[in-house]
Amino acid sequence: MSMETIEPGLGRMTGKAVLITGASSGIGRATALVFAAEGARLVINDINAAGLETLRATIAAAGAEVRAFVGDVSKAADSEAMVAATVAAYGRIDVAVANAGIIPEKDLLSATAADFDHVMAIDGRGMFLTCKYAAAEMLKAGGGAIVCLSSVSGEAGQASQAVYGPAKFVASGITRHLGVELARSGVRVNAVAPGTIATPALMKMSKEYVDGVTARHPIGRIGQPVEVARAILFLASDEASFITGAVLPVDGGYLAQ
Ligand SMILES: NC(=O)c1ccc[n+]([C@@H]2O[C@H](COP(=O)([O-])OP(=O)(O)OC[C@H]3O[C@@H](n4cnc5c(N)ncnc54)[C@H](O)[C@@H]3O)[C@@H](O)[C@H]2O)c1
Repeated sequence: MSMETIEPGLGRMTGKAVLITGASSGIGRATALVFAAEGARLVINDINAAGLETLRATIAAAGAEVRAFVGDVSKAADSEAMVAATVAAYGRIDVAVANAGIIPEKDLLSATAADFDHVMAIDGRGMFLTCKYAAAEMLKAGGGAIVCLSSVSGEAGQASQAVYGPAKFVASGITRHLGVELARSGVRVNAVAPGTIATPALMKMSKEYVDGVTARHPIGRIGQPVEVARAILFLASDEASFITGAVLPVDGGYLAQ
């Protein structure tokens, strides 16, 4: 599947109400396109209203049901409202993909307290809030699936990730703790841990960092957004019915070393 077309899928999300945060760009955008192809009814969220509208129009033109919700996942009121908008549109929320995030490249000495707070607000608190409000609605309906975006940076140490890396450990931690807390309720919580993926966020990082990290992927290349989207689709689908609290590497072998 290309990033810009919607090719028919296998109907693995037919009729499911799906919220995807940070959908204007990169992995979130690719995930929205894959889920639309699989028959999902979507609410797409981002703080980038223009990018969100472009994606909404692309998905709607392909005949899928989609609503856009502009909002900031780090704000409790916005997170609660985007979940409420999903329930208002479709009567339920079956799947939430907590994807929105920023990827600052900072080493320990250059990172400030404000840098730490900023990334934790979005990648940490934002992920918590998305899970909290989505799970509350899923519990009312008796089940659902949440997929969080962790990272290899949330499972192992790296240089130049002194603020982003700890925030991604929050994503892995939320996944494991909520996976256990909600296990008997029918709500599954899992994460993907991508290696380096060719998204607009990566283009903002230094060539030195990207070249270094690319060389450390055993598969010999970085990943494409759609390769992460397909793993998110699997974890969100009924095919993953016995998987919860898991953090799945999607990393070309990075974490296997
Ligand atoms: N690209 C990679 O190499 C990589 C690797 C591992 C994990 N990830 C994770 O994948 C996720 C997506 O990353 P990406 O590379 O696609 O980035 P991206 O910058 O291409 O897309 C992220 C999107 O999130 C949106 N966003 C940022 N702050 C937001 C907020 N407060 N509320 C709502 N939306 C907000 C942005 O506007 C953007 O559209 C992130 O959680 C990131 O940590 C990325």
